[in-house]
Amino acid sequence: MKGDAKNWSMVKQPVFLLKLNYWEDRYSRGGTSGEGSIGKEREWKWKIIRRYLPIVESVVDVGCGDLSFWAGHDCKDYVGIDLSETVIKRNKSLRPKWRFIISSSDKFITGLKKECVFCFDLLFHLMNEDSFVKTLNNLCIYSSKYVFIHTWKHNPFSRQNALRRFLRKAAFTDFKYLILPSKTDKTYQYYRLLENYYNIFERNNFALLNEHENPNGIGCMYVFGKIKEYDDLNT
Ligand SMILES: C[S@@+](CC[C@H](N)C(=O)[O-])C[C@H]1O[C@@H](n2cnc3c(N)ncnc32)[C@H](O)[C@@H]1O
Repeated sequence: MKGDAKNWSMVKQPVFLLKLNYWEDRYSRGGTSGEGSIGKEREWKWKIIRRYLPIVESVVDVGCGDLSFWAGHDCKDYVGIDLSETVIKRNKSLRPKWRFIISSSDKFITGLKKECVFCFDLLFHLMNEDSFVKTLNNLCIYSSKYVFIHTWKHNPFSRQNALRRFLRKAAFTDFKYLILPSKTDKTYQYYRLLENYYNIFERNNFALLNEHENPNGIGCMYVFGKIKEYDDLNT
């Protein structure tokens, strides 16, 4: 499915099954952003970012979470966007000099433009196709140079990946995907292949610079760069 206007459709599933406030519930119970924001996963992501930007000075961080990802890092000009009021409140006291906005990623915020945009482990939480497409557009508009996206390149709900997890972790929650593989857990995770939406980046004058596959076998850091020649023509 391409990221084309004709294909914008709602995910067909009963609304009562969607955990619309999953993250707010999680943070208000003292929960964190998860394993992707700490330890080896975090180290691996920062290593890639530094290849493109040795110093990260100007960022819009979409779906910023609890800022565990930023532990040990500073940023001169930072704007974090997240849907969860609780996490944004916490973040404001953690980093009083940074700017935070409570908003959904699909809502366009006027006047935001930074050297780079981060969007880590957010896209697979967007259940709605329209919201996904709008978010990708916003990521491009907020950036003047780089867009870094970490999301799933391989479907964790495929039979093969469910089997792998089942054998490694004896995760019985994955057992159902061995019988009935899926694209979604029908609650708060939905797999879409970003390659199918590259046209959105092209339309916004971004070129794919690289895909860095995560050693975990599921994720990938996609790096897009603004096409400079086009900018020059317009200045
Ligand atoms: C797995 S956490 C990742 C946090 C952070 N990007 C990181 O890598 O450490 C996903 C975050 O996305 C936020 N989120 C989920 N849906 C969102 C949406 N539609 N708009 C903005 N933020 C959203 C959640 O509140 C949560 O903080």
